[in-house]
Amino acid sequence: DWTPGNVIAEQVEAIRAQVGKARVVCGLSGGVDSSVAAALVQAAVGDQLTCVFVDHGLLRAGEAEQVERDFVAATGVRLVVRDERERFLQALAGHSDPETKRKIIGREFIRVFEDAARDIVAEAGEHGEEVKFLVQGTLYPDVVESGGGEGAANIKSHHNVGGLPDDLQFSLVEPLRTLFKDEVRAVGLELGVPEPIVWRQPFPGPGLGIRIVGEVTGERLEILRQADAIAREELTKAGLDREIWQCPVVLLADVRSVGVQGDGRTYGHPIVLRPVSSEDAMTADWTRLPYDVLSVISTRITNEVRDVNRVVLDVTSKPPGTIEWE
Ligand code: XMP
Repeated sequence: DWTPGNVIAEQVEAIRAQVGKARVVCGLSGGVDSSVAAALVQAAVGDQLTCVFVDHGLLRAGEAEQVERDFVAATGVRLVVRDERERFLQALAGHSDPETKRKIIGREFIRVFEDAARDIVAEAGEHGEEVKFLVQGTLYPDVVESGGGEGAANIKSHHNVGGLPDDLQFSLVEPLRTLFKDEVRAVGLELGVPEPIVWRQPFPGPGLGIRIVGEVTGERLEILRQADAIAREELTKAGLDREIWQCPVVLLADVRSVGVQGDGRTYGHPIVLRPVSSEDAMTADWTRLPYDVLSVISTRITNEVRDVNRVVLDVTSKPPGTIEWE
């Protein structure tokens, strides 16, 4: 019988058996996957777990605070925060190719992690303990799409499955590996993870870095962050959060189009809205959002966000389009 309680009981036992007395580290991304994975491991081995939050600067507005404040308050996990925004910007400078950007972000993420883990290892060593495991919030669809499943094609390099460097000294703990997203949410609720986190829409590990079509710069991130915050605010206000699987907001940084504002000609960038409906992200349809909601989002973004003079709607299903643009 599939129930969240059964999954938790099973996983708690499996995690304890795998981990023993060793210490465990877990990267919190701010999303439901890593949060529920961490909460499961916390339930299994308590203070043997230390969570690491890498602020790679590719997060949306307010997300860092949500991890540092809400998740910690709900679970009581030990959290280490690394502010690495400058490092990621430098590593991404000059790169526009989607797979290259994904690999850079994945690689830097692991390096920062190893660095943070080294500190935790040193601290544990003082108590005669060892850090041996890394928790990953890998879901079943990630496994399948990254070529881990039978006969699956490798479509995109999801950095939470592939791309780990050879010298990685951790074994993986992947308590969500057999679960779909709706099952993860049920498990999270059962574990007492706060609802705003449980119901947070999926957000890719590489974050806004793969929602800027073109090179990632600090200025472009700021533009996209503002546009994304407006779209999210209006979708929430309209009560559409649970109807939409997720709504990537994408900046076409290498595209410019002519516009007019006040008396002046503008030459700005388009923002793409990509609202999708889905069960598991393997397939998706574009969400038929009400025109009045689209209108408010468009007006606000073009009025409030500098250098954006056009908002366009993506009406492609998956397949053939993926949910993210990169
Ligand atoms: P695509 O674009 O492949 O996305 O249709 C399917 C789902 O996966 C999310 N996604 C990622 N999640 N790391 C993640 O954890 C990644 O590298 C990544 N790339 C895409 C995407 O947001 C969608 O929900």
